[in-house]
Amino acid sequence: MASKPPDLMSTIVSLCKRRGFIFQSSEIYGGLSSCWDYGPLGVELKRNVKEAWWKAMVTNRRDIVGLDAAILMHPKVWEASGHLAGFTDPLVDCKSCKERFRADHLTDLKKCPKCGGELTEVRKFNLMFKTFMGPLEDNSAVVYMRPETAQGIFVNFLNVQQAARLKPPFGIAQIGKSFRNEITPGNFTYRTREFEQMEMEFFVPPEEDVKWYDYWRDKRLAWYKSLGIKPDNLRLRDHAKDELAHYAKACVDVEYKFPFGWSELEGIANRTDFDLKQHSTASGKSLAFFDEETKQHMFPFVIEPAAGADRATLAFLVDAYDVDGEGDNARTVLHFHPSLAPIKAAVLPLVKREGMPEKAEKIYRDLLDNSVRSSFDLNSSIGRRYARQDEAGTPYCITVDGQSIQDDTVTVRERDSREQYRIAATQCVEVIGKKIKEANLCLSA
Ligand code: GLY
Repeated sequence: MASKPPDLMSTIVSLCKRRGFIFQSSEIYGGLSSCWDYGPLGVELKRNVKEAWWKAMVTNRRDIVGLDAAILMHPKVWEASGHLAGFTDPLVDCKSCKERFRADHLTDLKKCPKCGGELTEVRKFNLMFKTFMGPLEDNSAVVYMRPETAQGIFVNFLNVQQAARLKPPFGIAQIGKSFRNEITPGNFTYRTREFEQMEMEFFVPPEEDVKWYDYWRDKRLAWYKSLGIKPDNLRLRDHAKDELAHYAKACVDVEYKFPFGWSELEGIANRTDFDLKQHSTASGKSLAFFDEETKQHMFPFVIEPAAGADRATLAFLVDAYDVDGEGDNARTVLHFHPSLAPIKAAVLPLVKREGMPEKAEKIYRDLLDNSVRSSFDLNSSIGRRYARQDEAGTPYCITVDGQSIQDDTVTVRERDSREQYRIAATQCVEVIGKKIKEANLCLSA
């Protein structure tokens, strides 16, 4: 087995660009810092990550429903949630080179780490993006780009609970974009100012908060493992009291061992009844749950598993990356779990004659008609085509050769084992579909 490149992140970034996973935003204008665009393979991968999350959190569960709330919300939401006052990072500027730093990332608050210049006093910097709603650009028109999707869930708590006739414990899940004006974004798509969250607020009777906190911590860690992340690259880290968000009583991070160090993929927080009570007081409309049986009102506690879709996608990419073989035989392989792989099957006619392209085209059409995301590759040697598919993380290649014309069979080649076997050409959809289904059986629900 060949060793991984020393600068794994740079290798991943260039692979992402070359193969169409991720491009720098507005590249032809020099790029826009910390903004990235997902290309043809990247968009499939990220959609598959979100789909796997949605299945585990909503589709396959009886106690969680979904929501898709607006990004822009009433500005009072952010006052009540504490984000206007408390969603800040400590900031210092260098008086010489003008660079900005997060004060909590510096060991010496007297000297600029870049040029040695003098630093300003620490001041609080609010991370919310501001914009104006409507034609007037004055204070009355200020709105914020949401810094978390969670608040759309809290303000809709009773709408959803009553419409779906739910009783705690139950959850409301949402996937959507959030925005934070980070002082120091970086590490490719890991820390960006525009990002996508996968959040679920689980409303529980207050006395059950510890039980459900433990439940979701274990469940969420298991989800990453079941989708193929190596257990040694995952760990749980409890937040110290002084790093807890203003709304949290406890929080534990699921961390991944990225090439740039252990970093958070997801936080599981006990938000108590903070948000529902804050919005009840600020709006004058109680968000307490009314129990029809006991005729009692109650503010449930909230356990929140909050994951980053971009971070998870990056972790799945990094973890899947491998170099198999030595020397001339070395090849880059992305060992994605079949349900995450952007392309499930590639159809490859061995040569461009003797009816092979036509037969392959029929199989390709059949796969697409059955919603198996596939590709068709006719150019260069079969070895090079296999290598191209390995680098894209395609788990199955279907080769149409001379024998296929004789007996209507094709070769299936597996990405990870490189094992090859023949099946009937008419069974491609069934065989590939079955393999993906079997791989999904291991997923943690
Ligand atoms: N809702 C938690 C977070 O955005 O981190």
